[in-house]
Amino acid sequence: MNGIKIRGTGRGVPGKIVTNRDLERIVETSDEWITARTGIKTRHQCAGEETFSAMAAASARGALVEAGISPEEIGACIVATATAETLVPSAACALQRELGLPQDIPCFDLNAACTGFLFALHTMECLLNASPRKFGLVVGAENLSRVVDWTDRGTCILFGDGAGAAVVECQEGWPSICAVLGCCGNDELLHLSGVESGGHSYLAMEGTRVFKFAVEAVPWCVEQVLGKTGRTVEDVDFFVFHQANARIIDLAARKCRIPPEKYYKNIQEYGNTSAASIPLVLSELREQGRVSPGSRVLAVGFGGGLTWGGCLIEFA
Ligand code: COA
Repeated sequence: MNGIKIRGTGRGVPGKIVTNRDLERIVETSDEWITARTGIKTRHQCAGEETFSAMAAASARGALVEAGISPEEIGACIVATATAETLVPSAACALQRELGLPQDIPCFDLNAACTGFLFALHTMECLLNASPRKFGLVVGAENLSRVVDWTDRGTCILFGDGAGAAVVECQEGWPSICAVLGCCGNDELLHLSGVESGGHSYLAMEGTRVFKFAVEAVPWCVEQVLGKTGRTVEDVDFFVFHQANARIIDLAARKCRIPPEKYYKNIQEYGNTSAASIPLVLSELREQGRVSPGSRVLAVGFGGGLTWGGCLIEFA
């Protein structure tokens, strides 16, 4: 199988910012507790015209511009999300219309919770191998402020809204991203009900158990991807972990002996943006010039489902 590389990244983030101090007025919590336990200081929130669709479109446009690719060249579009504005049409179909993507390509949404962007990258690699077009658009977008229970201090402090996107290219002879993906059906640790399920209407989570799962899953995924690609920590330029909790990221990095200059956190600004968190990091790394053509990034995600995944992706 021919591999994919990232050609361009983009992000769309609403202007409204909710600080920890703002949350102190809503639930019994404190800036000190949230900062110490999670590393989060602020999160962005959709409001007014800054909707899910607007964020997703802004991130996709940014990625197309950075890649220097026109919408007609895109061969498939996947939006990783669990909080799309409408189930039908999918967010990807809405993007097809909004951006003027070709009509003879697959556009669809994919839900693997916080691991969604990595499931989507792997799916895109498979799709582009079977497509005459060589570019794909992968978006991770979430409007989590719409589904959190604003009376539950254990969850509402964690999540934020945002979108990140990548335009990827597939070329003969490029190495596969070697995605390692998995899931284990579990609706106790993290749950968000769907249409007419009669269950919770808000995101419900057993935080401490998810924490324990995550600090095991991230190092395991790193090890699996390194094993599959025959690489070592030294061969990787940057490690990008799902931004759910700064302590999870630091613990996982320490376990894998990853030096601090090789991983990055933006959770302090965005909180946990689920499927958007990895592409938001990628877009900031690119903007800051910390990754450039040839850089090798090992990305790892984990989340509801339960799901987990990792891959090694290069920048074109
Ligand atoms: N402010 C103040 N106190 C809070 C609080 C808040 N926002 N949320 C919970 N607490 C309290 C609890 O009620 C508990 O009080 P008690 O000891 O009197 O019962 C105490 O703080 C400890 O709660 P606990 O849930 O054990 O804390 P924790 O150290 O596990 O931190 C999370 C909670 C949610 C921050 C942490 O478990 C976490 O980040 N988990 C992973 C979540 C995640 O990654 N989810 C997404 C997966 S993609």
